[in-house]
Amino acid sequence: MYFRPIDSNINGKTVLITAGPTQEKIDPVRYFTNRSSGKMGYAIAREASKRGAKVILISGPTNLEKPDNVEFVPVISAAQMFEKVIERYEEVDVVVKTAAVADYRPKNIHDQKVKKQPSDWAVEMERTTDILQTLGDKKTKQLLVGFAAESENVDEYAKGKLKRKNLDMIVANSIVEAGAGFQGDTNIVTIYKKDGTSKALPLMSKQEVSANLLNEIEQLLKD
Ligand code: CTP
Ligand code: CA
Repeated sequence: MYFRPIDSNINGKTVLITAGPTQEKIDPVRYFTNRSSGKMGYAIAREASKRGAKVILISGPTNLEKPDNVEFVPVISAAQMFEKVIERYEEVDVVVKTAAVADYRPKNIHDQKVKKQPSDWAVEMERTTDILQTLGDKKTKQLLVGFAAESENVDEYAKGKLKRKNLDMIVANSIVEAGAGFQGDTNIVTIYKKDGTSKALPLMSKQEVSANLLNEIEQLLKD
């Protein structure tokens, strides 16, 4: 069970949410991606919309049904996600970046399918732009919420990202604990805020996590 405020501070606000993985093409039949399901981001989109927010959901490829009452913007690659997010940044009040954006992409995209050779194949990779870092650097009025997927040193790494990316809040989820992470319907998260406080939530459904996060966001909007 969770408490949902009746006088929602997010009612009427514009909330941009990114979700899912990105796919980085190598050739017409191959790409790099990751195990993100998009479930956490879609749950937050649904919850924000229920509370009266205008929701823009920018999503990489997932198997999920598009939530009702959101503006849905499908993208494939990190570069496309970057473009769509930046396009809308000025008009939004809150950004929640759950997307598992690829950190690297193949340097060369082949027009034709790469044929196998007797030798090994090394794909040269280059860095993608860090979308959230760019948003943090350009921040004016927006409340910025990041996610951190960590397999070790969760506290230290999450706090580092909070500071480096100029965020108001970061939500760390361990990707090694049972019941947490990319694929399932539950998650175990710790919320770190700019004021130095943190809150570890127990195992709960992604829907319940999203309600808790929205409560925290509404509190930050009020402060
Ligand atoms: N992020 C982003 N653009 C990228 C990479 C990450 O916007 N190119 C965002 C993610 O959406 C997430 C946050 O940055 O909200 C943290 O992502 P994460 O992968 O945990 O951290 P990184 O900064 O990429 O560092 P690393 O993968 O090395 O832990
Ligand atoms: Ca990363």
